[in-house]
Order: sequence, then C-alpha cells, then structure tokens
Amino acid sequence: MEQRQFKKRGVDYPIVDGAPTLPGYYYHSPDIYREEVEKIFYKFWLLACREEEIPEPGDYKLIQVADESIIVVRDKSNTIRALFNVCSHRGTQLCAEPKGHFNSKTIQCPYHAWTYALDGRLIAAPLMQEGHGFEKSKCSLPQAHVHNWEGFIFINLDESPVPFEVQMEALIGKFADWKISELRIARHIRYELNCNWKLILQNYQECYHCPGVHPLLSKLTPVDSAQHDVSKGAVIGGFMDLPRKGGSMTMTGEAAAPPICNVHGDDLQRVYYYSVFPNMLLTPHPDFVMYHHIIPLEPGKIINDCYWLFRPEVINDPSAQGGINSAVEFWDLTNRQDWQVCEQMQIGTKSRRFKHGYYSGREDILYQLDREVLKALGHPDPQAQD
Ligand code: FES
Ligand SMILES: [Fe+2]
Repeated sequence: MEQRQFKKRGVDYPIVDGAPTLPGYYYHSPDIYREEVEKIFYKFWLLACREEEIPEPGDYKLIQVADESIIVVRDKSNTIRALFNVCSHRGTQLCAEPKGHFNSKTIQCPYHAWTYALDGRLIAAPLMQEGHGFEKSKCSLPQAHVHNWEGFIFINLDESPVPFEVQMEALIGKFADWKISELRIARHIRYELNCNWKLILQNYQECYHCPGVHPLLSKLTPVDSAQHDVSKGAVIGGFMDLPRKGGSMTMTGEAAAPPICNVHGDDLQRVYYYSVFPNMLLTPHPDFVMYHHIIPLEPGKIINDCYWLFRPEVINDPSAQGGINSAVEFWDLTNRQDWQVCEQMQIGTKSRRFKHGYYSGREDILYQLDREVLKALGHPDPQAQD
C-alpha cells in the first residue's frame, strides 16, 4: 500500500492508494449485521426525525431501530421524549401507526388499557391495586436519550451514552450560518433499497464514480474538487466546488433559492457532504439543505428517507416552486443513479471469488469510514489476517 500526505488548501489530506476495502461478508453476514445493531445502532446517537415533524404536544413519530420501536413524542410541557414502544404490563406494542397525534395526551395500551402520560409515567392500570410488588412509579415506559441539534432530533438507546457533543464534536457550531433549525421540509422521498447501509455511506463520500455515473452532476461540480474539511470520529465531511456564480445542484445548475441566512464567502460556491455516522448524510448547499436518513432493515435492505429543507418563506412562495422542484428532480435523478450501483455492488460482493477490493486514493474517506466501523465492532483489521 502506498501512503502519501497531501496538503490542499491548508488541509491535511491523507491519500491511501490500494488500501483494501472491507471483505465482502461485511455486507452480507447476519452475524456481522447483528453485531452492528448491538454495538453501533444501539450505542451511537442516531438521527430520528426533525423537530417540525412533531410540532404540537401529543404529536408523535415512530422510529424503528432494528428490533426496537421508539415513540418520539412531544409531551405536554413541550419536551421531546423517546419512549420505548412497549407496555410495562405484559410487553405489548403500544402504538402501531407510524405517525400521528395522541388526542387524549395519553398513550393507552390496546390490550388491558394501561395508560401512560406523554412523559412516560404510568397513570392508570385498571382494577390493579398498588402493593404486593406492583407500584405505578416503577412501571414508567423506558426512555431513550434525546438531543436536539439544529432542529434534528437525535436519540440514543444506550442506557449510559457517550455525550452527544463527544460523538458529534465536529458538528457543534458547524453550519451555524445556515440556521438549519429555522429551515422546513419542502419535500421528502422514501427509497427502499436492496443494499447494506454501509454502501450508502461509502457511495456518498467519494466522487471517483461521478464521471461515469452522474454526467449531469459532473457538469455542475468538478469531480476533482472534492476535499475533506473535517474528520472527527463519527463525523467525516468534505465539500466540492460550485464554480458557477449563483449556482447550485439543480437541473439547470442555477440556484433553487436565494442563499440561506448568513451563508457567505466561500460557502456560496460550495456544497458540503457530511457523513454523520451511522445513519445520516447531511448536504448543505448555499440555497437549501438535503439530508438522508438511513434505516437498516436487514444486512441487504434499507430504507433511505431523503428530505429537502428550505427557508419557510421560499416554501410558501408560489413563484419559488420551480426552483425547489429543480433541486429535488436533480437529486432524485442523482440518488437513483447511486442506488443502481450500490445495489449492483451488494450483489457483486456476495460472490465467493470477491475477497476484498482496493480503494483508490480518491476514496480515502471510505477507508477511514471502514476503520470507524471496525473500531465500533472491536474487530481487528481483517486484512491483517490475510
Ligand atoms: S399488555 Fe398493555 S395493558 Fe396489558
Ligand atoms: Fe453518487
């Protein structure tokens, strides 16, 4: 393996030529997947939803994390809670509708009508007397931890999680100029994909594939302009140039909307690509923000929810809809081009003749992402065993 160190615009830029990819079984093995669930998805901070999706007390959204269903709900005091969707009586799932509103401001189990306040406290257990081992105060719904970053609700299912600021150090203060908490969802597209969750993160972090896979994207942003600007633990990010003045990633190459809030200077000519490991991809443009929410279902199956955030006044302006549509159409086209190659890679990496591949120097972030996965799993480098 050849390893070199480049300095580009003052940023240390490690390049690894010929570095081995993960072995194919990392994308297929049920055992590896189960370990990822236990050591990554049940341990790390995860994107759950946007705060705006549950604006009123009683509004909720169910978030599936492997075997766990979490009710992300706004309680009566406007605190956002992440309640395990499991009745304390005999373990029945409390709520089956993926999204909605608890009219009674309580959550009632459909089986024997135990009833919980929106903050998780058990407030009624029909016909049951306290004492003899039953105390309402010990039967509250378990809760996951919640953190709101810029209007994104993150949850953590671990009982004693690492602080959000430690896992997401690189995000703190980043993108403040976009005032992302003030942005609103303009569009959402759900993609159901036949590939491993890691392939989507990998695909997102390299543009080696862009000339062949994304002819239109390659006209808007030079494929060799990709640069890192941060790499801190779970957050790995970079940006690409938008050489056209007032340009953005749209079907026409023109901005979809005026620059957001305080975005200025170099940021007017850049699109950022941040992998917020393990289940979020964040893409701030000068004029809008796109993000992906990745929900693994099986080793080779995921849901990828893609959202486009704009300023509310843009969303409410009838004359601005063409710009929004152009951004969404561009990224929907680009996403589908990516999904095609990711799904083909899922199939190909299952071959018994595929041991591992070789990264190009332009894919060094992927090599680094693989190290994050191996570190989280506590696995030795698989190539060390070759
Ligand atoms: S299982 Fe929920 S009330 Fe009985
Ligand atoms: Fe791509």
